[in-house]
Amino acid sequence: MALPWWQSAVVYQIYPRSFADANGDGVGDLRGIAGRLDHLAWLGVDAVWLSPIFRSPMADYGYDVADYRDVDPLFGTIDDLDHLLSELHSRGMRLLLDLVPNHTSSQHPWFAESRSSRASPKRDWYYWRDGGGDGEPPNNWTAAFTGKRAWTFDEGTGQWYLHSFLPEQPDLNWGNPEVEAAMHDVVRVWLDRGVDGFRIDVVDLIGKDPALPDDPPERVGHPHFLFHDDPRTHDLLRRLRAVIDSYPGERVTVGEISRPPRRVAAYYGDHDELHLAFNFAPLLAPWDADTWHTMIDVTRSTLDPVDAWPTWVLGNHDQQRPRTRYGTEGRARAAAVLLLTLRGTPFLYAGDELGLEDAIVAGDQVLDPGGRDGCRAPIPWEIDPPHGWNGAATWLPFPPHADVRSAEAQRPDPASMLWLHRDLLTARRGSDALRTGSFAWLDGADGVLAFERASRADRRVVVVSFVDEPRRVAHQGTIEVSSAAGRSGQPFDGSLLPDEAVVLAV
Ligand code: GLC
Repeated sequence: MALPWWQSAVVYQIYPRSFADANGDGVGDLRGIAGRLDHLAWLGVDAVWLSPIFRSPMADYGYDVADYRDVDPLFGTIDDLDHLLSELHSRGMRLLLDLVPNHTSSQHPWFAESRSSRASPKRDWYYWRDGGGDGEPPNNWTAAFTGKRAWTFDEGTGQWYLHSFLPEQPDLNWGNPEVEAAMHDVVRVWLDRGVDGFRIDVVDLIGKDPALPDDPPERVGHPHFLFHDDPRTHDLLRRLRAVIDSYPGERVTVGEISRPPRRVAAYYGDHDELHLAFNFAPLLAPWDADTWHTMIDVTRSTLDPVDAWPTWVLGNHDQQRPRTRYGTEGRARAAAVLLLTLRGTPFLYAGDELGLEDAIVAGDQVLDPGGRDGCRAPIPWEIDPPHGWNGAATWLPFPPHADVRSAEAQRPDPASMLWLHRDLLTARRGSDALRTGSFAWLDGADGVLAFERASRADRRVVVVSFVDEPRRVAHQGTIEVSSAAGRSGQPFDGSLLPDEAVVLAV
């Protein structure tokens, strides 16, 4: 049986505010994205995930949704989304939207209604509770971003509402079947329009014990969502999966679950919950061969036994970019080889293929309450300022070296980071072994990992050096792709350059 498309796909994450701006207001938009699809097609990605484009007051830049059924005017219109979808499909690419089910915006009509009175028919759509006495909130949970309590007191009705994130993001009560049905309707609206699936925001948070028990004292002060792991979520996911799978065309879900791999594995269910879940360990791991060896083993040993397909993530809109984390271009290049050759579905964050660093956003330029502006800086398309962003000043400053790291500067240069990504994607496309083949460790060397990917007669050996000194390994073959410039197509005699990672045809 053919494997579903999302097992062999490379998914490219677009942060719409920062990708490309068609209307010149300094904030990216859907028409802007549609105007840059040649970049994606040339690069060779299979699918695009758009961070939220729904109507939002933007307290958390779209992760606070005020209308799940409409596009925010900042990004364009439903017609623009339809246009983007058909342009992607005509190029053979898929589109995933970002579903934010745990919370709405405090400006969502559901919340306005819920807040209006204790007798509101939607009162129970959110978590309203009496205080713990003496101005105390109902429990001791801590919100993300603010580090303060996860409750806000509502003067009008004299009760508190729960918000695992900002006060502008009240948590929905999925324990109420009406909420579940309403969210299923939202999902259907977009599946009916032809989208290929969803990335689902903090999806492990949606099931909650209605008693909302206190966190243990040692966790107070740490965001509650990091520990929340209620079994009710699995029932909700099974029913959501049934909705998704009732559509033809292999629609997919990928869940955001910020917890250790052993816990993440549970959210795949028995092929009846999430299709995929993010593997965030690589986002947090230092650039070190032993750490990566362990991390890869933990991923395999937790997911393989339950036949769950892994994912790999080096960057997203919440974390420092890999080029910034690893500190040098050489390491970022070697890391790109790993991302795109490990067994599983890679998620590539827009701009990482250009080797962008985080922008320096300091003092009064800071916008994000979670301190994540740096990785959300606008993509430099052209060498000369304003780098393809004509019109108003961009909403955030450009990343460092925007001229030489622009797409325009790198595209003619086969030694560039951009070409390295393209070469890796081309290699994947041509090799069943790299896309979906088996994985086995091979002997490496001190600071060097080596593994084999194989599918029937198709075989590749990947060797990745984590050290900035030359190394020797016992493997030989033809270099199909090297992270070092100018080595592709040459024979490999076992000598690695500093920081070099190679894909060998053997
Ligand atoms: C997820 C998103 C993040 C957002 C948060 C709240 O972690 O990736 O950007 O702020 O959820 O929705």
